Amino acid sequence: MDGSIYLPVPAIIKNKQELTHRETLLEIAFLDDRPLGHMPGQFVEVSFLGIGEAPISVASSPTKKESFELCVRAVGNVTKAIHNLKTGDKIGIRGPFGKGFDTEFLKGKDLLFICGGLGIVPLRSLIYYVLNNSSDFGQMTILYGCKEPHELLFKDELVDWADRGIIHLTADRVAPGEHWYHNIGVITTLVNKVDFDPANIYALIVGPPIMYKFVILSLNERKIPDDHIFVSLERRMKCGLGKCGHCQINGVYVCRDGPVFNYQEIKNLPEAL
Ligand SMILES: Cc1cc2nc3c(=O)[nH]c(=O)nc-3n(C[C@H](O)[C@H](O)[C@H](O)COP(=O)(O)OP(=O)(O)OC[C@H]3O[C@@H](n4cnc5c(N)ncnc54)[C@H](O)[C@@H]3O)c2cc1C
Ligand code: FES
Repeated sequence: MDGSIYLPVPAIIKNKQELTHRETLLEIAFLDDRPLGHMPGQFVEVSFLGIGEAPISVASSPTKKESFELCVRAVGNVTKAIHNLKTGDKIGIRGPFGKGFDTEFLKGKDLLFICGGLGIVPLRSLIYYVLNNSSDFGQMTILYGCKEPHELLFKDELVDWADRGIIHLTADRVAPGEHWYHNIGVITTLVNKVDFDPANIYALIVGPPIMYKFVILSLNERKIPDDHIFVSLERRMKCGLGKCGHCQINGVYVCRDGPVFNYQEIKNLPEAL
């Protein structure tokens, strides 16, 4: 990494797609055409002049070289400003930061992606990485859950993944009269419906904090051991590079030592999950 870890590098919005009323997908390229050089699961700090910075996961695969994608949910000052950007507008990017998914380690293994809500964003980067290098990996299965059907992200891509037979969808609840041909219930209800070999499968979980405990319990019930489970943690962050302590959990800096962790290594860390 060079000075881009401390100083935002100017970048341009090449394309913008509103996925829902609050989530936007941005295709971004650096003005000097440098590649981002990230790994799936890493994040960048997006800076908006006069407003601030926010950590955002990279949504695209490193196999896409000429640009990268971020999916932003408008929740506060910075993310609302990003949400309102137009094609051709400029922003600053620091990073990529953190430890993502260890793609070398995962080679040859079956992969079970478990995505809750916005958790699909960092996992999408890994999903495309695996699809683009499919001969290096075993079988892949994606479980994706949302509260209600209209909250699903990347709907066109979900159709493609369904055609390939690799995705199962669930919604916590469905309004009367709404069309939904998939599972209804929390995501743990899907875990019990898929077949896998617990000895060779590795689970990759990203979702809201409440989800982890129950999903891990259901994976353990299906005989998946703790060291076959990877999670991505979300904490308030500022610097993104292990200096300010905002993201610290005891001795662990989530921005630098994570956000992706093997569950076996953090399961006894108080307040990690
Ligand atoms: C490693 C990492 C990856 C992330 N990836 C994404 C992503 O891909 N897409 C995306 O939309 N968001 C992502 N987030 C969350 C995003 O960083 C926060 O939503 C953002 O920082 C909020 O900033 P704001 O100025 O818009 O909101 P603020 O005005 O600061 O706050 C608005 C609300 O959001 C809450 N909030 C602020 N920061 C965080 C935070 N870090 N975590 C949880 N709640 C927060 C506040 O408590 C408040 O309720 C990620 C966070 C981390 C740590
Ligand atoms: S965000 Fe500063 S130490 Fe992690």
